[in-house]
Amino acid sequence: MDDRFKIPVEQLTEDEAKGELHRLATLIAEYDKAYFEFDAPIVDDATYDQVRLRHKAIEARFPSLVSPDSPSRRVGSKASTRFAKVRHLYPMLSLDNAFKQEDISEFLARTRRFLGLDAETVIPLIAEPKIDGVSCSLRYERGKLVKGATRGDGIEGEDVTENVKTIQDIPHSIPTSFDVLEIRGEVYLMHKAFQMLNQQREKEGEALFANPRNAAAGSLRQLDPGVTASRPLKFFAYSLGETPKSFGTHESVLNQLKKWGFPVSTLIESCSAINEIMTYHARLESLRADLGFDIDGTVYKINRLDWQERLGFVSRAPRWAIAHKFPAEQAQTTLRQISIQVGRTGVLTPVAHLDPVTVGGVVVSRATLHNEDELRRKDIRIGDTVMIQRAGDVIPQVVKVITLEGQARQAPFQFPLKCPVCDSIVERKEGEAARRCTGGLICQAQASLRLRHFVSREAFDIEGLGTKHIETFFNLGVIRNPVDIFTFEQRNKNSSHPLKMWEGWGEKSAENLFSAINQKRIISLDRFIYALGIYQIGQTSARLLARHYGSYEVWIQAMTAAARAGTGTGTIIATAEDASSLEDLVNIDGIGPGMAEDLLCFFREPHNLDLLAQLVGPQIKVSDFKSAISRSSPIAGRTVVFTGTLTTLTRAEAKARAESLGAKVSTSVSSKTDYVITGNDAGSKAAKARELGVTILGEKEWLALLGEA
Ligand code: IVH
Repeated sequence: MDDRFKIPVEQLTEDEAKGELHRLATLIAEYDKAYFEFDAPIVDDATYDQVRLRHKAIEARFPSLVSPDSPSRRVGSKASTRFAKVRHLYPMLSLDNAFKQEDISEFLARTRRFLGLDAETVIPLIAEPKIDGVSCSLRYERGKLVKGATRGDGIEGEDVTENVKTIQDIPHSIPTSFDVLEIRGEVYLMHKAFQMLNQQREKEGEALFANPRNAAAGSLRQLDPGVTASRPLKFFAYSLGETPKSFGTHESVLNQLKKWGFPVSTLIESCSAINEIMTYHARLESLRADLGFDIDGTVYKINRLDWQERLGFVSRAPRWAIAHKFPAEQAQTTLRQISIQVGRTGVLTPVAHLDPVTVGGVVVSRATLHNEDELRRKDIRIGDTVMIQRAGDVIPQVVKVITLEGQARQAPFQFPLKCPVCDSIVERKEGEAARRCTGGLICQAQASLRLRHFVSREAFDIEGLGTKHIETFFNLGVIRNPVDIFTFEQRNKNSSHPLKMWEGWGEKSAENLFSAINQKRIISLDRFIYALGIYQIGQTSARLLARHYGSYEVWIQAMTAAARAGTGTGTIIATAEDASSLEDLVNIDGIGPGMAEDLLCFFREPHNLDLLAQLVGPQIKVSDFKSAISRSSPIAGRTVVFTGTLTTLTRAEAKARAESLGAKVSTSVSSKTDYVITGNDAGSKAAKARELGVTILGEKEWLALLGEA
């Protein structure tokens, strides 16, 4: 992380905290997407945990800044559209993490306080290994397995029924009198199976899985159950969805699971005193390397189910359980070379090539060096002896240099300023640790991910051009950039080996694909902007831009002008008009300076401008933005400010409602404000509105204006 963001949480001002929460939430979303949707993590677990913890600590200090879509209220990622969705009977939660003894003592103290127990009352716990796989829910109706689902976002998962049926550990029927039962557990892969799978993939030139967990996730989420069947997935059961009243303890649930024929870990034990807990944890850690599968800590669960029920859960995790994570495993070796990898999101990551060394039972020859700052801060150079660690069994990392007396060192590593894959400029934004390639749509390292985004439902929404096809077409060189999508049919007509003759394709399916593409040659400006996949420009900001500029031509003109004004390199002459375009952009409500900078990076890259020129006009048409909001809404296009505490709805709800009716919600009062809506204890904003002569409405008057009173 950049030092600027190392401001201790307790020293952040509210404004800084707001910015920081936004930045961390964006990072988490990006990490989650890579991890959950593409089964390809872009950071190691330790970094991920660090970002999550900081986000959580800031929210704890500024509860008023917790937004409804905060990552702290989310589990995992939205279910992929590749699979049918399954709504879980009962949400599938995540677990809070503990790292040291005090965290566990605090967990026990919290439990005690919550249940109102005195210091003498024993809290019986069940300690279980935390299996590092993918959670899975199995639904049995009258004893028959009818549904298998992934966790998804915790509320809805993906239907992987046919795939779970291929897992030998999972019984297809169980002897039970319950009408409906939901069994939960972890699907995982043994180390051996993982290594064999990766060896085979390497031979076939396919991308390798980063670790057994991602391999398990990738194998479970196969569209073809035949592929899943060929991967020796295993399963451990650890709980029931909704627990029938007849069970009094978690222990009795586990015993019943065993009787029904599910594998339950043999390492599960009961414990209660803190020394017992720590002993269990230490013993589990000593067994870790020999288990043959990955575990990343202990899970402690309150044994009494009536207590579990009373404790309930907070947003994404239960109060009745906690995960005690293992510290990372470390080893020493020599750093032979540093290469630069361009990730699918354009981030340049320095990679250490090491003399192979065994860490926690796995041979490691590569490790991530994270980013330029880390490299410099740790002063890591080629030839150094380094300490590496595997945290959470993901990508190993270089922790530090071990200085050996008398050892001569090489010069510091120079980070490249051009993308090693596509030669585009590499940008590093203020306040960000990552250097990114700006060649988004033309950079081969990023292209397949970008293309998937480009055709996704919220962007061009090209049906029939899903991930699998994109990947195939991309690998074969048929579709390498967005323009190729729209020229495909023409090229195909002239081809000696047209699509209809490819394996798995026919006349009809090829025709359908081209017709699906042709139907999308007209796209609205907001969708188009979003489809470009410019860093930080999500659906909301794309819509804001579209609303502001109205048409593609106006937008492009403004962006290229603003990009000229923002370069400051001296090679391009910026005019006063350019400067005013830049000012206009950063003044759009909801477009922060960070986003503006990302947009301009995109427009400063000539490759991207070329691509736009080949796409818009020759291939597609971008239609003007038309607000979907009915003009009849009395607040459409108006700017409103809420202040004070509203009584009938929360601030977040009020904001969402106003926006859905076409109003712009701002946080500060100016002469541009149309209405100030005052709740209880409205303070300075109401005063300012009075001063400026802005219409002030009470909550009731506001609702009356909306016709809702
Ligand atoms: S209990 C609500 N028990 O860890 C409690 N989870 O970080 C969550 N996991 O989503 C389930 N081993 O996929 C539980 N013995 C165990 C587990 C376990 C692994 C996973 C599970 C969960 C994740 C939370």
